[in-house]
Amino acid sequence: MPRASVWLVRTALLHLGVGITFGALMLWNKGLPFAPALWTLYLPHIELLLFGWTVQAIMGVAFWIVPRFAKEPRYGRVRLVWGAMSCLNAGVLLMVVAYLLNSPPALLLVGRGLELLAVALFAAHVWPRIKPMSDVLPP
Ligand code: HEM
Repeated sequence: MPRASVWLVRTALLHLGVGITFGALMLWNKGLPFAPALWTLYLPHIELLLFGWTVQAIMGVAFWIVPRFAKEPRYGRVRLVWGAMSCLNAGVLLMVVAYLLNSPPALLLVGRGLELLAVALFAAHVWPRIKPMSDVLPP
């Protein structure tokens, strides 16, 4: 597994751990209400699991498995992937903190903007690698 995939999947697993913990707390509180304030974890739960876990894990596995080029650099423009990872994590963390602190919408806009930028950077990286195997591997 290439290094960028290792870090993307490991970081995604951290988001999964925190996201599921938030979900479990909400579920517990739904069955046996003990702390109504736990519902503030609702949006952070969705953010962590949809973007922090799902999108990031997909990026990590896609970087690894989509066809590589026949010549170096075999994985293409890797810096775009590190950029995507940085923007995605900054965006998700900003969104989670903004939800928890009930921050002004401007902060949410910046968070969502960073997430969109992450997707754009990853798409720019992966686009040239989406080709039939015969076009990228030596015969
Ligand atoms: C990849 C895994 C998961 C994803 C993508 C996910 C995503 C979501 C989404 C989108 C909602 C909002 C649904 C709605 O309002 O209709 C939600 C709500 C919720 N999730 Fe998750 N979730 C995941 C796993 C879990 C797990 C493992 C738990 C519990 C251990 C959990 C507990 C909850 C609870 C309690 C709610 C609130 C339900 C309610 O409105 O009463 N989630 N989740």
